[in-house]
Amino acid sequence: MTDTVRILMCPPHHYDVDYVINPWMEGNIHRSSRERAEQQWNQLYEVLTGLAAVELVSPEKGWPDMVFAANAGLVLGDRVVLSRFLHPERQGEEPYFQAWFEANGFTVHTLPKSLPFEGAGDALFDRAGGWLWAGYGFRSELDSHPYLADWLDVEVLSLRLVDQRFYHLDTCFCPLTDGYLMYYPPAFDAYSNRLIELRVPAEKRIAIDEIDAINFACNTVNVDRTVVVNQASDALKEALNERGFTVEETPLTEFLKAGGAAKCLTLKVTEPRRDTPKVSTIQSRVIHLEGHLLDSGLVNRALDTIITGGGSFQVLNFDLGKQRQDTSMAEVKVSAPDQTVMDDIMGQLIDLGAVSLPREVAPAALAPVVQAGVAPDDFYVTTIYPTEVLVGNSWIKVEGQRMDGAIAITRAASNGSDQGPVARCKLLRDLQVGEDVVVGSKGIHTLRTAPSLKKKTDDFSFMGAGVSSERRVELVVEQIAWDLRRIRDRGGKVVVTAGPVVIHTGGSEHLKSLIQGGYVHALLGGNAIAVHDIEQAMMGTSLGMDMKRGVSVQGGHRHHLKAINTIRRYGSIANAVEKGVLTSGVMYECVKNNIPFSLAGSIRDDGPLPDTQMNLIEAQADYARLIEGADLILMLSSMLHSIGVGNMTPAGVKMVCVDINPAVVTKLSDRGSVESTGVVTDVGLFLSLLVQQLSKLTGQYTYI
Ligand SMILES: NC(=O)c1ccc[n+]([C@@H]2O[C@H](COP(=O)([O-])OP(=O)(O)OC[C@H]3O[C@@H](n4cnc5c(N)ncnc54)[C@H](O)[C@@H]3O)[C@@H](O)[C@H]2O)c1
Repeated sequence: MTDTVRILMCPPHHYDVDYVINPWMEGNIHRSSRERAEQQWNQLYEVLTGLAAVELVSPEKGWPDMVFAANAGLVLGDRVVLSRFLHPERQGEEPYFQAWFEANGFTVHTLPKSLPFEGAGDALFDRAGGWLWAGYGFRSELDSHPYLADWLDVEVLSLRLVDQRFYHLDTCFCPLTDGYLMYYPPAFDAYSNRLIELRVPAEKRIAIDEIDAINFACNTVNVDRTVVVNQASDALKEALNERGFTVEETPLTEFLKAGGAAKCLTLKVTEPRRDTPKVSTIQSRVIHLEGHLLDSGLVNRALDTIITGGGSFQVLNFDLGKQRQDTSMAEVKVSAPDQTVMDDIMGQLIDLGAVSLPREVAPAALAPVVQAGVAPDDFYVTTIYPTEVLVGNSWIKVEGQRMDGAIAITRAASNGSDQGPVARCKLLRDLQVGEDVVVGSKGIHTLRTAPSLKKKTDDFSFMGAGVSSERRVELVVEQIAWDLRRIRDRGGKVVVTAGPVVIHTGGSEHLKSLIQGGYVHALLGGNAIAVHDIEQAMMGTSLGMDMKRGVSVQGGHRHHLKAINTIRRYGSIANAVEKGVLTSGVMYECVKNNIPFSLAGSIRDDGPLPDTQMNLIEAQADYARLIEGADLILMLSSMLHSIGVGNMTPAGVKMVCVDINPAVVTKLSDRGSVESTGVVTDVGLFLSLLVQQLSKLTGQYTYI
């Protein structure tokens, strides 16, 4: 027996499953046998008295879970941090455990009442390094961890639990003598698994499987080289034996019904102090959210973002507003286990429009570009939303907003004098040595409601975000027709992106009508839309199918190559029109009506047509130029080009995506832009309905 180890236990005289506060308790209310529980507890007690000095705290009637003494508090040396239970069902245990610690000479630290921390159930010392592994996610709050570091003078490494079955750290994680670690990796998020792997060398890690995990193999009492456990598989026993551990199994099935086993039933009250630096890497920031937080689901999204990003939150203030039109306001304290996780979470919260509180606002951090076309690490990735950055003392608006870029800060000069900093959204490849780039998440603010959107509210008032089912198609078409007419009449700009399906589905007649009617101000596509349009114009087929009769034409599969060859002979589509070779079709209408078009190349292109831009960087630049100033982008059945265009379009531009595949339109809507509408339907049918609707609206417009 090792004299130096003292273990606290609480006899199970009042133990029962009286309520449900974890998944193990479900279906087990009053299903445990007191007699068997007493017998299993006594057997564990016998085993442990052979290994350590076991002391007892008196059980109290009405507090059945007191038997799980691990949750009394966390001991180090002569100090203890008393538990603050999350669930009221256990909060009544606190004074009894406090009395025991005080009576036994411990200095007791108590956390604020609103800050849950469940003792050694959620905090375990590494047996070699001496640092503290502290769990959060279900019972203990991340914000309790800095207190542990401070009061116990210890380094704290925070681990996030993600599987409800393993609601306490000691249900899935067990540091063992000599720095070994037995644990169940799927119970942790990716960041925590990385942290574990960084701290514990591979040869010391014993990752257990799910069967051992649900038998609570990690809920082990380890004294020197003995591990006392409810049950372990042969493979696990062998793995432990190989590393010099003896496994003692003692059944604790009655306690499993309440979600506990050997470790939960014990608390080591001799934890020798080691020399580790007092460190906690936990970061906190307070953010402010304002808007229609409940209606738009924004507050839920923000809180989910914090949790799924590996942080935790505390809502400090929430003001719901009084009238229907009032906006709500929330102040939320965000905590994260370290700066990297905080930056990731803040980056996403900024995208949702969150701002730091004025007292916490700090200028944006900048780092220089040292290699052309390569951003510094941790660069802030831009979104579609208008963004401002705090440089020095002033907020400056980012120019050229688009998603997936970096923010470069340069100084503007005029007549030799410095005009101050300029922030510009740049693609990585365009970054130049000497420019500063915004890194991290401080001093950045995005506006979820673009000013341009406010301006256009009446134009689009009945086009909310969403994906239309077949049932709604006609209604949506009416709305789009209304908007197209309004935009055209006030001299606005509509850009169409289109794939070859427009031609195959008989939509070219309708697209031509839209161009002739002045509803299209730029056309974006690939090689295929032009090839198949020209094939149809010259030979009456599209992909070899006779478009009038709907049957395939003998040798028709060669038609599109012949069309390409003809245009190549004339050097460009415009030349072919000028020479009278191309006399109808969508591309013909573009040339005749001076509608600029851009055809971006792809790996599957035949030919290509001389107009197809095979240099993709040039093609992207060309698209971006044509999109500039657009009020509405109509995306017609081209996943490739619709998504490409979506990525380079700032917030405030309406997008209507028509595709037969709901996944494509959902992808566009998922940019988070309230201005995108998805229409799931056949593109030929959509165009035909749109043209019909426009002719009804204008009266003078002829439906062809
Ligand atoms: N011969 C050629 O040169 C040739 C031929 C085909 C494609 N391409 C090139 O390949 C690239 C990708 O082509 P893409 O944009 O056609 O393909 P894509 O797969 O990106 O998009 C086609 C979209 O059309 C949708 N669709 C299919 N039938 C539909 C219908 N009846 N109504 C509405 N939507 C429908 C699909 O769900 C899909 O999302 C482009 O650059 C294109 O120019 C070249």
